[in-house]
Amino acid sequence: MDHQPITSLKSVRLAVAAPDFQAGLSFFVEELGFEVAMIAPAEDPTYAVLTLEGMTIALDKNRISEPVTLEIPSEGKEIIGTSKQGPNGTKVHYVSYVREVSKNTKQIPVLNVAQVEKANWVTGRAGMSYRSLIDDQKSHITASHIKIEGSGQVPDWVHFHDVEFQVIYCLRGSAKLVYEGQGEPFIFSEGDCVLQPPHIRHRVLESYDDLEVIEVTSPSDHATYADRVMELPNRSYTPEKDFSGQRFTFSKHSESKWEKYPGNENLVTQKTSILKTSGGVGWVNEIRAIAFQETNEEPILVNHDFEPDFFLWFVVEGSATIIYEGRKINIGVDDAIICPNGCRQETEFYLAGFQEDFRVLEVGINPH
Ligand SMILES: [Fe+2]
Repeated sequence: MDHQPITSLKSVRLAVAAPDFQAGLSFFVEELGFEVAMIAPAEDPTYAVLTLEGMTIALDKNRISEPVTLEIPSEGKEIIGTSKQGPNGTKVHYVSYVREVSKNTKQIPVLNVAQVEKANWVTGRAGMSYRSLIDDQKSHITASHIKIEGSGQVPDWVHFHDVEFQVIYCLRGSAKLVYEGQGEPFIFSEGDCVLQPPHIRHRVLESYDDLEVIEVTSPSDHATYADRVMELPNRSYTPEKDFSGQRFTFSKHSESKWEKYPGNENLVTQKTSILKTSGGVGWVNEIRAIAFQETNEEPILVNHDFEPDFFLWFVVEGSATIIYEGRKINIGVDDAIICPNGCRQETEFYLAGFQEDFRVLEVGINPH
């Protein structure tokens, strides 16, 4: 069987049976707004080709087939959510042009540990596999560990996401990425982080050496749209462009300086500029140990004077013991401490038994 697409096509139309031809014609033309492109025969028509907003239908008195259902996206608040039934069984539903995101009710704040040895890896297309760091299916946010095996081209196209906050951190390997307005494609490698502001067009071109990334996205229920018009890379260079109050950011591993981590003298932190460039929506910091620590008398406070909507510590290197809510768990490379449903004022954990190689990625989303 040959699966090559046929190249001699002229158009595609939906065949609609219309035993009551005149009633069907006036429903499509007068009520729905279709235009007549062709009608035959002139005397007593039994066949018409009708078009509306890129859709073509062939209304046919002599066809015997099931009635059709049309979904019509609209910007008109007064008709969104309404339905119509036409002659010959035709059904019409008016829906929102913009995909509505369901705002779930607030979930109960919890602190979870996601251990890599208990991970459920899901295999996707083209050698890609995903591991959710969040158990709760109803969480407003997704945090995933994503792997692409080997090296090679990634079958991606120019697209964008309808998100409020989205960051990608490179754990291992590297990739060649291109973003709207940011010039030539660039190499994203270990320790680098990208802030993808809402609706920025982008494309993954290639991945190398078993790429592994951490991706955090809010909200989890968001739409991805293909952009079939914009080509990337292109000549437009607008690095300062504002996307809903955010700016594209490529944070290189080596660029910012290390400072003391509040409340623990054996830890230092390297803050990326993402808190600033996301307009305060979220932040990405790296934390590492500078000395061995056997026990910890002071807890790591997840909040200081605010309650984040989301908090993640992902262990990049080394190991430690965490103590929280009376439990003691050893965490190592690729394990995570996560508050997927926001944090309470008193959310805290104790950290002990870490060596100098202990290194974590911290991602947080501020309350809004
Ligand atoms: Fe994307």
